[in-house]
Amino acid sequence: MTATTSPPLPPDLDAALRRLKLATMRRLAPDLLITARTQRWNPEEFLRTLLDAELTSRDASNTAARMKAACFPVIKTIEEFDVAASSIPKATFEYLASLEWIRATENYCAVGPAGTGKSHSLVAFGVAAVQQGFKVRYFTAADLVETLYRGLADNSVGKVIETLLRNDLIVDEVGFAPLDDTGAQLLFRFVAAAYERRSLAIASHWPFDQWGRFLPEHTTAVSLLDRLLHHSNTVLTEGDSFRMREARKRTPRRGVKP
Ligand SMILES: Nc1ncnc2c1ncn2[C@@H]1O[C@H](COP(=O)(O)OP(=O)(O)OP(=O)(O)O)[C@@H](O)[C@H]1O
Ligand SMILES: [Mg+2]
Repeated sequence: MTATTSPPLPPDLDAALRRLKLATMRRLAPDLLITARTQRWNPEEFLRTLLDAELTSRDASNTAARMKAACFPVIKTIEEFDVAASSIPKATFEYLASLEWIRATENYCAVGPAGTGKSHSLVAFGVAAVQQGFKVRYFTAADLVETLYRGLADNSVGKVIETLLRNDLIVDEVGFAPLDDTGAQLLFRFVAAAYERRSLAIASHWPFDQWGRFLPEHTTAVSLLDRLLHHSNTVLTEGDSFRMREARKRTPRRGVKP
């Protein structure tokens, strides 16, 4: 049996679809014209099928572009997160997973020790948000402050912040490294600019009453937390590190046969 190839589109149609950048329609149209003729589709059905295919492929490539622009360090998903094994209450997790808080410009703050799912949850909600059409950008606090610092050199911090605020933002690892006065001021400026305009999702080892450890000036710490926590969904991630749990599973105890 030989495979039949559909005749190419007439050159004027092909050129028009190319000019309008309707690549998927242009690719599918020759085969679809044959199918539509042989199966006696009505014209609407033909048009709808072509448009649906174009829209589906555009949505997919827009999502892929937003996913790349988000700069997630790894991809984690909501489905992979074991809620029962975490200290995040199920109802809270479900609310966060619904992404309603992003629509409502609320924040999400995860506080707890190493390996307890802070980054996983931040990234998983971020990935879900991207899939639902939001623009998201992931930073570690150190990278964010470095980005803002660069703006100081040419007096463009305000512009840098405005550009960042075209996204909802994830700031991970807040307080892993101490900030100097300027770094703390820059972080404050960023949080103040995002306040009630964009959702921030942040994670830190440090409970809020200890943020003075990495924010040198008391009033900056207070004003920053005041804005961050005003409309915030805060969770405390507690318990053993998932990394340690997994390492223990992989390494059987000496003398114990697997
Ligand atoms: N509840 C969970 N369900 C499934 N996997 C989890 C869960 N919590 C953590 N993990 C996994 O454990 C590892 C460590 O989690 P994660 O990176 O989120 O920790 P963290 O709280 O951000 O730690 P750190 O403060 O050191 O950055 C990751 O591989 C993550 O996918
Ligand atoms: Mg982390």
